[in-house]
Amino acid sequence: MGAVILGTGSCLPEKRLSNHDLGKLVETSDEWIFSRTGISTRRISSKGEEAFQLGTTAARKAMAMANISVDEIDLIIVATMSSHMTMPSCACFVQKELGADNAFAYDVSAACSGFLFALDSGDKFLRVEQNKKILVIGTETLSSRTDWKDRNTCILFGDGAGAVVLEYKEEERGVVASNLFSDGTLWNLLYMHAAPSCNPELEQADNPGAHILMEGKEVFKYAVKSMEGAINGLLIRENIEIDSIDLMIPHQANIRILKKLVSRLGIKQEKVFINVQKYGNTSAASIPIALDEANREGRLKRGDLLLVCSFGGGFTWGASLLRW
Ligand code: ACO
Repeated sequence: MGAVILGTGSCLPEKRLSNHDLGKLVETSDEWIFSRTGISTRRISSKGEEAFQLGTTAARKAMAMANISVDEIDLIIVATMSSHMTMPSCACFVQKELGADNAFAYDVSAACSGFLFALDSGDKFLRVEQNKKILVIGTETLSSRTDWKDRNTCILFGDGAGAVVLEYKEEERGVVASNLFSDGTLWNLLYMHAAPSCNPELEQADNPGAHILMEGKEVFKYAVKSMEGAINGLLIRENIEIDSIDLMIPHQANIRILKKLVSRLGIKQEKVFINVQKYGNTSAASIPIALDEANREGRLKRGDLLLVCSFGGGFTWGASLLRW
């Protein structure tokens, strides 16, 4: 039927950075951050916790749950925008760390929607190559891309990784369908420069370095509207009522975006998995981390209908339905 998730895993850095700690870096307060975003604390990477290292640990946990060995992995897809190198890909470093000698590996770049886009690529790959097993990983060290002097953005993000093992099964479960979108014309509402160019002709005069820049209010507006549209479009296409959804795992951007989305969709609050208070916005890692927590907490039973959705820089956004 489609790509079935055999196992999930996640990895969070040890170090915690609370809202109180942030108050020592920029002019802000726990009350301001929590009331605007729902975030209380986030994890920050230390030495030995690069994106590929967090992703590798998450992948090992997912493979252990799936009860498969690394030799069985045929493909590794990593969604990230904060790898420690531009080349090779983060996925190649994960492959090396795992010793996944039978796998080829590549990255997907779709900002906070990266995991959803990578999951869709993995599902499509498995519908063609049906006897393969793949790892799909979302991993970020956004602390390395955050301007720690900018209170508009530094309060939002955190580090972490999540992973799933996928296999095609001729059963009534797995990825049911996806509804994915991009709109590059809106790039300048949420973006991050590359490293300064070596070619002076191509260097951008206003390049402040690799920091996230954002028009917060615009991002908020588009995030709610776009995810709502993607979800409703998907439900209509698949002829599924919102009440049939057993669990919704949205990208953990911030609580106000999620509350607005949930009320517009008319889905019951108790069906929505939220952990943004603990980890902040971990971009491409947020959905697989939440998925792993929900799975390990027993929130997903065989046959459940799972809805995942995301929104991020690009803009990129979308929704997917999975039968557990
Ligand atoms: N602490 C205290 N004050 C602050 C802070 C802060 N950390 N940041 C901004 N302020 C101040 C502003 O300077 C402004 O002051 P002023 O009125 O004197 O000018 C005031 O607070 C209000 O600022 P706004 O930007 O209007 O605050 P807003 O209510 O819009 O909240 C926020 C800002 C939280 C960023 C909101 O716009 C938002 O949630 N946007 C979505 C952004 C997002 O989630 N991005 C993640 C990437 S995309 C994704 O994952 C979906």
